[in-house]
Amino acid sequence: MFQKLMLVIFLMPFISMQASDSTWENYKQHSLENHCKIKGWCKREKAEKLMDLIHDAGPRICVEIGVFKGSSIYPIAKALKYTKKGVVYAVDPWAKEESLKFEVDEANQNYWGSLDYEKVYQKFIKMLKKNDLKKYCKVIRATAKEALSQFKDESIDFIHIDGNHNEESCMQDVEMSLRKLKKGGCLLFDDANWHQTQKAVAYLHQHCRLEKKYSVNDECLLFLKP
Ligand SMILES: C[S@@+](CC[C@H](N)C(=O)[O-])C[C@H]1O[C@@H](n2cnc3c(N)ncnc32)[C@H](O)[C@@H]1O
Repeated sequence: MFQKLMLVIFLMPFISMQASDSTWENYKQHSLENHCKIKGWCKREKAEKLMDLIHDAGPRICVEIGVFKGSSIYPIAKALKYTKKGVVYAVDPWAKEESLKFEVDEANQNYWGSLDYEKVYQKFIKMLKKNDLKKYCKVIRATAKEALSQFKDESIDFIHIDGNHNEESCMQDVEMSLRKLKKGGCLLFDDANWHQTQKAVAYLHQHCRLEKKYSVNDECLLFLKP
């Protein structure tokens, strides 16, 4: 009897580890099924990597630049709801003049110029409420520059950059984000294979280490700040 009890005590951590892993997998799969209902540009593969990154690294202060309707911040906030350790700041001006500031080609001018930004913003807020994510996602309706200047240097654990894709804007977001990121913190950069983003991507390669595990092909790259 005593020997059996000792065996159970010895195996307990392994049994509970397996149980919590399967709970995380179930939670993640359920979240990903819901994720496809949110319109935006975050594909399932990226959403899953985002969730795993938050689950594995356990960041406390996260920031997303460029939120739109919440397609990429939803997996971040959902994972934070699971870890119960941190919060993500949703940074976006949701303003036509900001989106049009740098968009040069006609197709982009037409798309970003025809949006009802107030409606997009309200839809995002509704999505947070519906999914009970308000505790884990704090909204900053401002440009990346305005929002990041509110954070102390080396105070952020994780930043996702998916804001204005103009060359000048990307460079500004990357330089400022790296200053605000803690040593050992990570930065996920979206649309890293666009020609407008190459200067910013080169800067990231120069100053950080690429982490392939949480990157998605050459589209979305995760960098660690040394
Ligand atoms: C490509 S969308 C974001 C997509 C979103 N992350 C997703 O996966 O669906 C780009 C967003 O950047 C925002 N944006 C434009 N200028 C910005 C700026 N200066 N700072 C922060 N966000 C900006 C736009 O309002 C828009 O919602």
